[in-house]
Amino acid sequence: MYQESIKNFTIKDDALIMGIETSCDETAVSIVKGGREVLSDVIISSATEHAKFGGVVPEIASRAHTTAIYQATERALKEAGKTLEDIDGFAVTYGAGLLGALLVGVSYAKTLAYSLNKPLIPVSHIRGHMAASYIADKSLQPPFIALLTSGGHTAIIAVKSYYELEVLGSTLDDAVGEAFDKVARVLGLSYPGGPSVERLAKEGKNTVKLPKMFKGQGGYNFSYSGLKTAVINAVHNAEQKDEPLLKADVAKSFQSAALDILADKAIEACLQFNFNTVALCGGVAANGYLRERVNNLASQKGIKTVIPEKRYCTDNGCMIAAEGYLQYKAGNFADLSLNASANVPLK
Ligand code: KG4
Ligand code: ZN
Repeated sequence: MYQESIKNFTIKDDALIMGIETSCDETAVSIVKGGREVLSDVIISSATEHAKFGGVVPEIASRAHTTAIYQATERALKEAGKTLEDIDGFAVTYGAGLLGALLVGVSYAKTLAYSLNKPLIPVSHIRGHMAASYIADKSLQPPFIALLTSGGHTAIIAVKSYYELEVLGSTLDDAVGEAFDKVARVLGLSYPGGPSVERLAKEGKNTVKLPKMFKGQGGYNFSYSGLKTAVINAVHNAEQKDEPLLKADVAKSFQSAALDILADKAIEACLQFNFNTVALCGGVAANGYLRERVNNLASQKGIKTVIPEKRYCTDNGCMIAAEGYLQYKAGNFADLSLNASANVPLK
């Protein structure tokens, strides 16, 4: 019966889409109207439960989602002043992410879609991060260059239309957020690592010699594993020789080495493709140094920037609803066999 319904759903321009996100340690549920207007935005994070382990523990994350998801949905509906019957489609992250965590959101969205006989919309977490740009700038339209920087992905993507993406380059090994998290651990900083490194870097100087990764070469690709190893070696060498090495200087030097290249290459891509807008997306886009550098470089070249509020850079339900709206408009609905996937392609 639900299978038959999928072919007959009416598609509205001002649809209310519920975005459900459970790929990592945030249980997020949002309601977005017409793909751009946020009516509610609820995030229940289990980060403090993971902090004592120094990273996300998948089993704890899954359990936390199970307990939080109903409450998050209730709150999202209440904040938006809507009922479940008002929702036109249920968009859910099906990947990439932690399998057990994703399954909580996917099963929950399936139940809602089936019981209310509304579309079930599968959303890629990566595309979701990029769609946060449409919420940040209500007038944004492709084409633009997206600089995607998260804990799992690092890429420069030409967004040619709402649906057509071209990956210009990506990391060949670690993602930039992953490198921040590892460096934080080496420096003995608390989880989540990115914000801790940024805070410490504010007190430091860019004095520790680290490799300049792929500067002027490698196309739009990146590599973070060498940089990460260089930081680990610098810290260990100083310890062995009993030489003073200010952690703040390591944090500052690493931050510059990791982020300068991202900003430079994103602007280069805008110039090469003649796109006049660059959009920052993903958790690392919450970093103040990166935001400022992209802004400065872009303004020198007359390029417009779309830099979402920090809460729309890290994981949230609005970005899933925004991308869900685009998929809804294209009629890309799933049936009840939808499964979670730990990895999804970049585009
Ligand atoms: O997009 P996101 O919330 O989750 C993934 O899809 O991975 O990104 C999380 C990543 C983590 O690696 C975290 O350390 C990093 O984003 N991050 C930051 C900052 N805030 C979060 N990295 C650098 N500076 C920050 N302020
Ligand atoms: Zn994410």
